[in-house]
Amino acid sequence: MLARVATFALSALDPVRVTAEVDVRPGLPAFTLVGLGDVAVRESRERVRSALLNSGFDFPLRRIVANLAPASLKKAGPAFDAALAAALLAASEQVPVGSLDGVAVFAELSLGGELRGCRGTLAAAEGARASGIELLLVAEERAGEAALVTGLKVGAIRDLQELAAVLSGNAEVRLARPTIETATVDSGLDLADVRGQPHASRALEIAAAGSHNLLMEGPPGVGKTMLARRLPGLIPPLAGDEALEVTRIQSVAGLFDGGGLVRQRPFRAPHHTVSPAGLVGGGSVPMPGEVTLAHRGVLFLDELSEFPRHSLDALRQPLEDGSVTVVRRSGAATFPARCTLVAATNPCPCGYAGQGSRCHCDQQAIDRHQRRLSGPLVDRLDLLVALANPTGDQLRSSSSASTAEVAGRVVAAHAQRNLRWPQSTIRSNAEAPEASLTDQRCLSKEALEAVDAAYARGLVGLRGRVRVLRVARTIADLREAGLTGVEDVLEALSMRLRVDGGTQ
Ligand SMILES: Nc1ncnc2c1ncn2[C@@H]1O[C@H](COP(=O)(O)OP(=O)(O)OP(=O)(O)O)[C@@H](O)[C@H]1O
Ligand SMILES: [Mg+2]
Repeated sequence: MLARVATFALSALDPVRVTAEVDVRPGLPAFTLVGLGDVAVRESRERVRSALLNSGFDFPLRRIVANLAPASLKKAGPAFDAALAAALLAASEQVPVGSLDGVAVFAELSLGGELRGCRGTLAAAEGARASGIELLLVAEERAGEAALVTGLKVGAIRDLQELAAVLSGNAEVRLARPTIETATVDSGLDLADVRGQPHASRALEIAAAGSHNLLMEGPPGVGKTMLARRLPGLIPPLAGDEALEVTRIQSVAGLFDGGGLVRQRPFRAPHHTVSPAGLVGGGSVPMPGEVTLAHRGVLFLDELSEFPRHSLDALRQPLEDGSVTVVRRSGAATFPARCTLVAATNPCPCGYAGQGSRCHCDQQAIDRHQRRLSGPLVDRLDLLVALANPTGDQLRSSSSASTAEVAGRVVAAHAQRNLRWPQSTIRSNAEAPEASLTDQRCLSKEALEAVDAAYARGLVGLRGRVRVLRVARTIADLREAGLTGVEDVLEALSMRLRVDGGTQ
C-alpha cells in the first residue's frame, strides 16, 4: 500500500514542498530510503524504526520503499523523520490513509518516539501556508514558532502516539498559539558612558538613522569597540515583516529557540579568523554567513586590518547589492544581506601613528598596514572617523548624549523617511536609488551642485557621489528637513574624507 504526506525542505532560507512517500509491499523485509538525502536523512530509517517500535506500533516486516520527492532536490537534516513515520503508519494501515490529505508534518524523531523541534520551522510554516496546507503538525517545543505565521492551523504534537491518535481522529489536535514575545533585553550599554569622541558619536547617530557603513580609526583604547557596541541600542527595534524575516534567518541558522518574533536588531561581531564562507555563507548545503545573520542589524568587524584580504573582498558584492548568492554543486542559494557595517582599526601596526613620538612604525610598515584594508571595501564605507584620545576637558565634562536621546532623534529620522517614501520598499536611506535622492522635492539645487563640484575635483568617485547623497539625506532627516541642503552635503563629504583628508 502507498501513502503520502507533505513536508518541507529548505533551499537557502526558502521552503520547498517535499512529499514523503512510503510504499509497503510483500517481499523480503527491507527498508530503503531514496530521494537525494544527506547522511542525517539516510539515518532517518533507524530513528523511524526504533521510534515506531518503542511507541507500541508495528514495524512491518515487508519490503518498504520510502521516497522524498522531488528526488532532484538535495535534502539535509532530520526534519523528514516524522513525515516518513506518518506515511509509514498509513501505508501499513495503522492510521487511515485519507487522514494525511491536507496535512504536513515537520519534525525530528527521538528513538523513544518523541517529536523534536527542527531548524527552519518558521520557514516550513510559511511554505505550508503558501502551498495551501490546512494543518501543519510540528513538535510541541516549536509549535509557537510555526504559529507566528497567520492563516495556518498548527498542531503541537508530543510524540508518535499523539500523532497517530490525531490522524485517526481519536484525539483532538492541540492547536498552537504564537509564542508571547519576550521583551527586548536592554544591553545596559549607554552612549553617555563614552567621554569625548563627538565626531564618532555623531557618525554613530547618522549610521543608526540611515544604515550607513562606518569605519573608526584610532590608537588603542580610545573607545572604538566601546562605541560600536552601542550602535544597536540607537536603532529602533524590528517591526512587521522585517521581524519575521530576521526570525526566519535565525531559525534556519539554528540561533532561534522557538520564542516570540525577534525584535532585537542582530549584532554580529565575527573574529578576524573567520573564513570567506563564514562571512558570506557557504557549505555543501549553503548556510547563511555572518553578513546574512546581521541582516537588518549591525555587522561589526573589529580590528579590520587583521582580517585576511580575501575575506574582506568577499564582502564587496553583498555590501553593494544587499544580498549574496552562494554557488555550490547542489545549486545556487541567495541570502539577504542588508546590514550596517561597522569597522574599527588602528592606523598602523603599533597603533599610535599620528600620536607623535609614540609611534615606532616606519613609513613602510604604515603603508603595508593601510594596504591590508581593501581599497574597494573602504570605498563602500560612508562615514570615516579618526578618533584621538579625549582632551582633559572632555574627560571631566559629562556632556555626551545618552542612548535614549540619540535613539529619539533616530526614530524621528526614520519617520521622516517613511513620510517621504510611504509606499516604497526602501527601508533605509542606504538603499535609496540615485533617482529618489536627486528628486527636486528632496534635494536643493545648491546641494546637488556641491556634490557635483566635489566629484569634478576628484574628491569622490561615482559610487562616492551617490553615497554622499544618501548620507546627506540622512543628515537632513535627523534635523527633520524635507530638502537636503548644502550644509548636509558638506557634513557628509567631510565624514567621507576625514581619514584620507586628515581633516581632524
Ligand atoms: N572615550 C572613552 N570614554 C570612556 N571610556 C573609554 C573611552 N575610550 C576607552 N575607554 C575605556 O577603555 C576601554 C577600552 O576601550 P575600547 O576597547 O573601546 O578601545 P579600542 O579603541 O577598541 O582599542 P583597540 O584599538 O585596542 O581595540 C573601554 O572599555 C573603556 O573602559
Ligand atoms: Mg577595540
